[in-house]
Amino acid sequence: MSQPLDYSIAQKIVHWLMAILITLDLFVAQKFGNVMEQADRLESRGDHGSLGTIVASLFLLRLYLRYKNGAPALPVSMQGWQIIAAKLGHGLLYFFIGFLILSGLFTAMNATDPVALFGQFEITLGQIDKETFTFIRGFHEFATNAVIALILVHVLAAIYHWLVVKDDVTQKMMKFWKSKRV
Ligand code: HEM
Repeated sequence: MSQPLDYSIAQKIVHWLMAILITLDLFVAQKFGNVMEQADRLESRGDHGSLGTIVASLFLLRLYLRYKNGAPALPVSMQGWQIIAAKLGHGLLYFFIGFLILSGLFTAMNATDPVALFGQFEITLGQIDKETFTFIRGFHEFATNAVIALILVHVLAAIYHWLVVKDDVTQKMMKFWKSKRV
């Protein structure tokens, strides 16, 4: 398949929806590390897992669109190391977002108290001891920190392309309502 001139509009919309929902889910989850009322914790776990499930669906759609539509070539002005860094950064983002979702799902399945997605679907396996839950939750916490670090680098690189280099890399994704694809 030859490389397209741009991302499709669907790819751009899914990119921004995921960015917004991951940020929202981080806000819901940031209080889990603190002492919480049990009822509040259970409700917040449900909200957090439900939002995470929507992110998971968008992630699958995104993988499909990437496979079907590909991605535009990076600007020829970019140096070799920058191209390697960009590809590595994007690959790691895909990997750790997948890991984040899977580790979240396993954390919920192994929670000591029930987690109900969308208030309906209880996914907890039951009879789990606290040590197992804490152990699995540690992977989810690690994945969260990795994704936060990668998102920071991603945003800094986008600002660099936009304001310093002034090429069209960032603009392509910002203008999500149009695509140069024919
Ligand atoms: C959008 C992706 C997600 C992000 C950014 C995220 C982030 C987090 C964070 C920051 C924590 C707190 C970690 C800590 O303080 O130790 C957490 C805990 C948790 N997450 Fe996620 N998560 C995501 C997806 C999911 C999914 C898909 C599920 C389940 C379907 C899930 C289930 C849980 C559970 C059960 C906990 C433990 C709650 C508790 O300690 O009471 N997460 N998550």
